Amino acid sequence: MSKDEVGVVVIGLGFVGGRAHAPSFARIEGSNVVAVSDIVPEAADRLVKKYECKYYRDYKEALDDPDIDAAVVSTPTPYHYEIASEALSRGKHVLCEMPLTSSIELSERLAKEADESGLILLPVLNFRFTPNYVKAKEILREGALGTPMAFTFREHIPAKELAMQWPLSSWAWDAKKSGGLPDYTLSVWSIDLLRWLFETEIESVRWQSSYNELQGVDNFKGYQTVGVVKLENGAVGTLQYGATVGEGLGTSRLEVYGSNTKTLEAIWNNSVKIMETSESIDEWTFAEKGPRVWGHRQTDEYFVECILDEIAPSFGPKDAIIAQRVSRNIVK
Ligand SMILES: NC(=O)c1ccc[n+]([C@@H]2O[C@H](COP(=O)([O-])OP(=O)(O)OC[C@H]3O[C@@H](n4cnc5c(N)ncnc54)[C@H](O)[C@@H]3O)[C@@H](O)[C@H]2O)c1
Repeated sequence: MSKDEVGVVVIGLGFVGGRAHAPSFARIEGSNVVAVSDIVPEAADRLVKKYECKYYRDYKEALDDPDIDAAVVSTPTPYHYEIASEALSRGKHVLCEMPLTSSIELSERLAKEADESGLILLPVLNFRFTPNYVKAKEILREGALGTPMAFTFREHIPAKELAMQWPLSSWAWDAKKSGGLPDYTLSVWSIDLLRWLFETEIESVRWQSSYNELQGVDNFKGYQTVGVVKLENGAVGTLQYGATVGEGLGTSRLEVYGSNTKTLEAIWNNSVKIMETSESIDEWTFAEKGPRVWGHRQTDEYFVECILDEIAPSFGPKDAIIAQRVSRNIVK
């Protein structure tokens, strides 16, 4: 690319677009938030003032803006295909939130369109950039656990918190339009994490789910979803996604059990440990802040770097589609 700065429009300014991507692109060297777009003008007010950027209610008008080189699609999943496809057809690179689209067929169509356009379509697989997972991958690569034999990944979100973000009336509960329910939506990052961390494919997964009304939580349905997984490298494990627990009891925890009796533990996003015995523990801690903690900012930086240096990204829509395929049976 001959320019030395990527002009960006962030489309969809809710939880992830407004709080993670817009502030990230505003701070990344080599990018400039030229505009923001949301069908709800109030969602844009604060960002327009803060970043002194343009506002477009209709994202199609933003895509006509010659100062814009790239579009960030952070609307609800049902609109991803239409917006990302339109952006590619108008010569804009696309960073698209996950799940990539509302169906595998549409994701495959979008991947083909990106291929034919020669433009970048990067899915937001931000766990690949989360600092303690990056360290965990380095540790596994060095063979510090011998052969990884088993793993567990658990993510519990306090029910009241998720009920505020995604109440029953929201797109996240419309399986037809979104491809699945919140457990499906929230599974795609950790499924990609397994493939990336262990550098192998998922051979099989068997999902079981339980959904219930929760006492004291209105306009919501609690879920607990568990997947029993076998990887092609022989490791076995479980994935668990829950939204039933009370305030302050959220968890995100990855454990890996090695053939040399050592265990790796990555809790939340700020620590990773290797435990040999209860008294022999090595620990690395990370003190990132804001959109860096879960790797959103680093994903955005990578997107800008790929555009400016004309590099093909090391992952792409194919990885997003695999995650969607593995997750899709949760819906049943
Ligand atoms: N990478 C992550 O960590 C992460 C975390 C949460 C959500 N997500 C994904 O991000 C996407 C958005 O999720 P969210 O929780 O931020 O949603 P949200 O409901 O909080 O926000 C979506 C925003 O998009 C706007 N919008 C809707 N249709 C639009 C259109 N046609 N044009 C412009 N704006 C439009 C809405 O007004 C709203 O402000 C989903 O695909 C979700 O799966 C990713």
